[in-house]
Amino acid sequence: MTKYIINGGNRLNGEVSISGAKNAAVAIIPAALLVDGPCRIENVPKIIDVTLQLEILRELGAHIRLLNSTTVEVNGDYIAEAKVPYELMRRIRASYYLIGALLGRYHHAEVAMPGGCNFGGIRPIDQHIKGFKALGAQVEIREGGYIHADAPNGLTGAHIYFDVVSVGATINIMLAAVLAKGQTIIENCAKEPHIVDLANFLNSMGADVKGAGTDVIKIRGVRRLRGGMYSIIPDQIEAGTFMAAVAACGGQVLVKNIIPKHLECITAKLKEMGVEVAEYDDAVLVTRSGKLRKTNLKTLPYPGFPTDMQPQLATALCLADGTSIITEGVWDNRYRYTEELARMGASIHVDGKIAVVEGVRELTAAPVRALDLRAGAAMVIAGLAARGVTQVEQVTNIERGYENLVEKFVSLGADMYRAEIPEAEAAMGAAQ
Ligand code: EPU
Repeated sequence: MTKYIINGGNRLNGEVSISGAKNAAVAIIPAALLVDGPCRIENVPKIIDVTLQLEILRELGAHIRLLNSTTVEVNGDYIAEAKVPYELMRRIRASYYLIGALLGRYHHAEVAMPGGCNFGGIRPIDQHIKGFKALGAQVEIREGGYIHADAPNGLTGAHIYFDVVSVGATINIMLAAVLAKGQTIIENCAKEPHIVDLANFLNSMGADVKGAGTDVIKIRGVRRLRGGMYSIIPDQIEAGTFMAAVAACGGQVLVKNIIPKHLECITAKLKEMGVEVAEYDDAVLVTRSGKLRKTNLKTLPYPGFPTDMQPQLATALCLADGTSIITEGVWDNRYRYTEELARMGASIHVDGKIAVVEGVRELTAAPVRALDLRAGAAMVIAGLAARGVTQVEQVTNIERGYENLVEKFVSLGADMYRAEIPEAEAAMGAAQ
């Protein structure tokens, strides 16, 4: 069992370079299956979710070569059977993008339903299924929880209107539609930077995708995609996590290798809180010297404030003057982490989608759990800002989506390390 041990209280100072975007990588890697011949993907983050996804592609028969630590070559010409077993699916939710990719290229996909949601609720995929059906696929859920999607005569472009704005459904339908016959129009799409990145990847391989980043995406099907090279955008949420950490701990950090435009909604909130943010071409300089001010925020699909930054900002707001109100506008239940923060002295009252955060003078160290990826990032920020030594457990959830988080914080002056705790000792600790 691995834990992070954090001796809090240090200000953060220095420079940090942001890795490739997780949520773009987990869409672009399966998208590579649509391409004839090898395609090379650069700026791939070294995170567990990417490793798992490459493992799944390998199991399916794709040829994968790691050319260096952040560049991978995928050749999807050798898929033996378009079937992804539950054992693999349950380990990474984004593997449902394989339905769109396999259906698009091989006209058949048999993929186990993704497991439940680690936010504690249900994460439906009805909009994905509605889109596949509109493109002419037969989609059924059969024994063992397998989704069977078939289009023996190929897919045909269609006009699809999503009932909810969904990142996953937008991506899955883009994947299925690029090789379909004719034109597909997707309305009420998600507009996140990783949607645009996927469109850029597909277009650089010969697809015809227009409008990504707006509410309407138009895709003219092409006969084939050809191999090429593509570099993934920087991770907006990783950058935001470091910015929130500076807000909570104080100090001055240059967050490098980013696209400042993607961070505008986060930057605006931090400025309201009294944090200084100076923008450069591919970096932001974040400074917090004075007291943090309260603010209210509501999470919304892009360009609104990202739900994936809600736990990190809430943690900084625990240390602000006054009472802040947070409204979660994307997920039904994304506040489980507040119970962990309460153990560190935070004062947060949750009622449905609203959390009322009353600023406290300080947080105090406690053993806490990383209940999911962003909840885990929030625990790290809390530990860095708190008085005393915090232990963060279940850090695999953090390492699913953050590359070298510990090393990056240490380089900024944080006093923290990864500790391997023998299973027996960990069990003893839990029993006490
Ligand atoms: N929804 C439906 N039906 C669907 C699909 C979604 O009702 O068929 C609802 C969901 O229940 C939710 C809302 O629509 O209330 C938005 O869900 P969305 O489909 O946009 O989420 P997702 O694609 O499953 C991605 C990110 C999440 C991020 C959300 C929202 C990836 C791999 N995951 O999930 O990222 O929270 O978009 O921005 O891209 C994370 O990185 O920590 C993370 C959880």
